[in-house]
This record gives sequence, structure tokens and C-alpha cells, in this order.
Amino acid sequence: MSHQAYSQCFLAAILFLMVTMLPAAGMADTFHIDNFISPEVCSGCHGDIFAQWENSMHNLAHEDGAYVAIAGFLRNGLKNPDEIEEAESCVKCHTPVGYVTGYPKQFSDNREKVPDIARQGIQCDYCHSATGTKKMYNNGLILAPGQGEDDPGIKYGPFDDAEPDFHDAEFSKFHTESGICGTCHNVKHVVFGTDLETTYDEWAASPYNTGDPKTHVNCQGCHMYQRPDVPATGATKRPLNPGPASDYTEDREHIFTHYFVGANQMIPGMAGDEEKITMARQRLEHAASLSIDAAGAEKGILKISVTNTGAGHSIPTGVTDLRQVWLEVRVKNAEGNELFSSGVLDSKGYLGADAVVYKTVYGDEGGKPTSNINKARSILKDYRIKAGQTVTETYKVPGIAGSGKAGKGTVVEAKLMYRSLSHKLLDMIPDGAAFKAGAVTMAHAKTVL
Ligand code: HEC
Ligand code: HEC
Ligand code: HEC
Ligand code: HEC
Ligand code: HEC
Repeated sequence: MSHQAYSQCFLAAILFLMVTMLPAAGMADTFHIDNFISPEVCSGCHGDIFAQWENSMHNLAHEDGAYVAIAGFLRNGLKNPDEIEEAESCVKCHTPVGYVTGYPKQFSDNREKVPDIARQGIQCDYCHSATGTKKMYNNGLILAPGQGEDDPGIKYGPFDDAEPDFHDAEFSKFHTESGICGTCHNVKHVVFGTDLETTYDEWAASPYNTGDPKTHVNCQGCHMYQRPDVPATGATKRPLNPGPASDYTEDREHIFTHYFVGANQMIPGMAGDEEKITMARQRLEHAASLSIDAAGAEKGILKISVTNTGAGHSIPTGVTDLRQVWLEVRVKNAEGNELFSSGVLDSKGYLGADAVVYKTVYGDEGGKPTSNINKARSILKDYRIKAGQTVTETYKVPGIAGSGKAGKGTVVEAKLMYRSLSHKLLDMIPDGAAFKAGAVTMAHAKTVL
């Protein structure tokens, strides 16, 4: 066989193999890791944007130690194939470049073998190669990356007049809408269909989704306006951020910031990013307001109301089975002696069962509460504060009741508290102690009777 005939035969065999393997392996929409360009390359011209994105939760989505520890813990010991399928699916959002280029396909795939670029989480070339979404949950992004650094292809973004040399640029309406965020910020159990995260749906049903350009505020309208000392929430101004989009171009009216700060201080903090710790606190401090109604004090009744004034979704949102948002209430008499308390952390940082907590609780196969999302077949409880909503809690404090004089000088103090992960949960997880953190005060109110 001549050399040429041999190679033709070889090619035909390869082609045959590729065609027959395509549907079976589901490779139709799989890319090669070389299609994607490292964020460091983008930083060569987009230095400011890179610095904002670095150590963000998006950058750290794969490396995030709390995610890795919790996902591993929840995966451990599962026998039900449906629950295992969910437990293995995390990489679709937490390591998206790896997932679409073939490795890792599952959470338990060897983390050592994950290519460098994929370790960098949700990154520049991933978001800016997106052209739309197939569905509004479980990451349905449709991607059109280039051929790597030598032929970067089109980067999709908010401008219709950008003419960079290195890559092509095209206006993408998709990038200016909440849907580019929503396809990952809506999570459903892959088999049971249980809603595990609903941030996009919460926003879509919120007063911020007006559709009127004058009043409409999408995810970007808060999260991509935030910068140090500009929390950019529903309770604050959200001023434009003029500046250049690259190190070599003229200023524009507004540059969308890329800090992607939510509420988490732990993960950016562990990466040494003090700026993002402060920014997360500033966001939390402009999310809600509190008020105390002591009109029923004579009968020993106090009412505390919380209003979600700043978040474009529920408080809390995201992984709301894990997050802790609660009311801390203390009542002291004029002499300073405590008459009542609820939701005060003990000396070791544990939250008592008496606290009013805003969260979601999932039910397992037997309808019992479970802290394992892989087993979540139903939602037993969803008690959270929707965007713009006020909820009122009634506390019975018999100690302050009296006939007109008792209770005078009594001090009532209430706080809305936030913590990413509970101590009780972290106690169950090997190495969980490393993620124990203090709480942030989101809102504060005080009344003297
Ligand atoms: C989670 C997805 C996501 C990631 C990750 C991301 N971007 Fe963006 N970026 C966006 C969106 C969305 C917009 C436009 C927002 C709008 O128009 O509402 C944008 C806007 C831009 C713009 C236009 C200028 C501006 O900021 O308004 C540039 C340039 C840009 N991004 C570069 C980058 C670079 C470089 C990185 C990595 C360091 C990056 N992006 C990471 C989603 C992302
Ligand atoms: C050699 C410099 C250079 C590099 C490297 C570079 N860009 Fe750009 N990019 C630019 C310039 C210049 C603009 C136009 C800015 C303007 O018009 O204000 C731009 C614009 C953009 C836009 C906006 C496009 C639009 O139409 O809205 C996006 C998104 C973007 N770049 C993403 C990236 C990503 C992702 C990378 C890395 C894969 C990258 N860029 C690497 C120079 C560069
Ligand atoms: C009106 C402003 C506003 C809009 C619009 C908004 N957010 Fe938020 N977001 C906030 C505030 C304030 C917080 C901090 C309080 C909290 O955790 O809810 C926050 C927190 C978050 C968190 C962290 C939640 C946690 O506790 O772990 C995520 C994730 C998030 N937002 C994603 C989104 C996405 C995705 C969208 C669009 C679908 C969006 N946000 C729209 C203001 C906004
Ligand atoms: C490819 C999926 C994906 C896309 C697209 C995406 N996100 Fe995220 N986002 C995540 C994941 C996963 C995390 C959590 C990472 C981790 O655990 O460290 C996250 C974290 C965040 C956080 C930090 C939450 C916290 O607890 O502090 C914010 C804020 C956020 N995203 C906003 C956005 C916005 C705004 C957009 C759209 C412009 C967007 N995301 C697009 C997957 C995505
Ligand atoms: C469809 C996209 C998607 C999938 C799939 C997904 N996540 Fe996430 N995950 C997110 C987003 C978005 C956030 C940020 C929400 C927030 O901050 O509350 C997040 C945050 C988390 C966090 C909080 C991390 C921290 O540091 O506080 C944990 C833990 C987590 N995910 C575990 C998992 C596990 C385990 C799986 C698989 C069983 C999984 N996720 C699958 C999108 C996803």
C-alpha cells in the first residue's frame, strides 16, 4: 500500500470512528481546550477588568474550597443512581470550560488532571463567547469560541462600535440582559427537577423586572455597577462608571464592573482579596431595613419587620439551604438586665433553635428534611424575603408586660444577620472548620420604650 493510500485509508477510518462516536458520546457541542484563551491574555489589554474579576467567586468557582468540601461530602455514600447523577453534575457550572471541553465531566473526575484554563472557573472567554441560551436553568449557554490566541474569533459584548485589532467584536443583546446570568443562577435537580436555586426566577418576578428601560434593573444593573464604596443595590444610587474598556482606548459612558460580588466574604477572603470582603459587606449593609413596633408592649408583644429594600431577588438567594440569614433580638430593662433574647450566637458561634431564620428546607424520598441537595425531591419550607417585600415577626416577651408603667426604659434591639455557612453544617464536613466565619449585620434597629 502506497503511503498516500495508507493515509487515506487511515483518514477514512478516523472519520468513520468520529461519525459513529459523535451521538453516543454526546460530543456534538464539545470544544477543545485550545479553543479557549486564558484570562491572562485578556488582561494584556483589559487590565482593570481582569483585576476586578481575579479572586471573584466566578474566578474561584472551581477552586472554591467550601464548594469542593461540601460537594465531596454530599456525594459520599450515595447509592441511588438519580442522586449520584445530580452529585456529579456540579462541574457544569463550577468548572464550565472543563465541562464543555471534555474534562472534568463529573465532580469525582481527578481534579489534578483538570487543565489550567478550566481551573480558572467562569472566565472572560467563556462568557464572551456566549451567543444565547438553550434553557434558563442548569447552564444552557450556547458558545461560539474562536480557535485560541492565534485566531481569537468574535468576543460578544455591549458595544456596537468596538474595533479591536486582536479579536473581532460584536454587539450582543444577550449580554445586556439577565438571561446570561440566569441560565446558571437557576439550578434544578437534574433528575427530580426540584428547584435548588431560583435567583433568576426571583428576579423575573420582582419589581425590578419592569421591561421599561427607565425603571428596569437587571442583574448587571446592580452587580456590574458595584465598585469600592459604590454598593449599587436597590437601596442606593447606581451611578455610571465612566472609563476605558481597554488600556488603549477612549473613555466610554459606562464600563460594567467585573467584581461579581454577592454576599460571600469567605472565598475571596481566603484568596487574600480584602477589597472584595469590604465590597460584600457593603452590599449586605444596603440590602434590607428593619423596624420595631412596640405598640403591643403592654401585652408583652413586640413586632419586628424586615423589608428587602436592596436585593433584586429574595434574601437570601442562591444556595438558600446553606446560607444563614436570621433575626437577632435582645430586650433589656432600664437597668441593663436581659429580659429576652432570640437568635444570639452562643460563645462558640452556634445559632440556637429559637431564632427566626430565612431559608429553604428540602425533603428527601421519605418527605423528611434533608441537608443533601442530591436527595432533594421536594421543598418542605421556603421562608425568605422577596424583593421589595416586608415580613413581620411577632415575639412574645411577657417580661415587659405591665399596667402602664412596667417596661418603661426597656431597650429593644433587633439585627438582621448574615453568614454564608452554618457551624452545624461545617461540623459534619471533613476540614469544614476552616470555613467557619463570623456574621455580618445587614440591618439594625433600636427602640427605647
Ligand atoms: C459571568 C460572565 C462574564 C465574565 C466571567 C466576564 N465578563 Fe466581561 N462582561 C459580561 C457582561 C454580561 C458584560 C456586559 C454587561 C451589560 O452590557 O449589561 C461584559 C462587558 C465586558 C466588556 C465591555 C466593557 C465593559 O466592562 O462594560 C469587556 C471589555 C469585558 N466584559 C471583558 C472581560 C474580561 C477581560 C473578562 C475576564 C477578566 C470578563 N469580561 C469576564 C460578562 C462577563
Ligand atoms: C491586544 C489587546 C486586546 C486583547 C488581548 C483583548 N482585547 Fe478585548 N478589546 C480590545 C479593545 C481595544 C476593545 C475595544 C474597546 C472599545 O471600543 O472601547 C476590546 C473590546 C472587547 C469587548 C467588547 C466587545 C463589544 O463589542 O462589546 C469584549 C467583550 C472583549 N474585548 C473581550 C476580550 C476577551 C474575552 C479577551 C481575552 C480572550 C480580550 N478581549 C483580549 C483589546 C483587546
Ligand atoms: C436591585 C439590585 C440587585 C439586582 C437587580 C440583583 N441583585 Fe443580586 N444581590 C443584591 C444584593 C443587595 C445582594 C446582597 C444581599 C443578598 O445576599 O441577597 C445580592 C446578592 C446576590 C448573590 C449572593 C447571594 C448569597 O447570599 O449567596 C447572588 C448569587 C446574586 N445576588 C446574583 C444575582 C443575579 C444572578 C441577579 C439577576 C438575576 C441579581 N443578583 C440581581 C442586589 C441585586
Ligand atoms: C457559567 C455559569 C454562570 C454564569 C453565566 C454566571 N454565574 Fe454567577 N456564579 C456562578 C457560580 C457557580 C458561582 C459560585 C462560585 C463559587 O461557589 O465559588 C457564582 C457566583 C456569583 C456571585 C457571588 C455570589 C456570592 O455568594 O457572593 C455573583 C454576585 C454572581 N455570580 C453574579 C452573576 C452575574 C451578575 C452574572 C451575569 C452577568 C453571572 N453571575 C453569570 C455561575 C455563573
Ligand atoms: C446550574 C449551575 C450550577 C450547578 C449545576 C451547581 N451549582 Fe453550585 N452554585 C451555583 C451558583 C450560581 C452559586 C452561587 C450562589 C450563591 O452564592 O448563593 C453556587 C454556589 C455553590 C456553593 C456555595 C459556595 C460557597 O463558597 O459558599 C456550594 C457549596 C455549591 N454551589 C455546591 C454545588 C454542588 C454540590 C453542586 C452539584 C451537586 C452544584 N453546586 C452545582 C451554580 C451551580
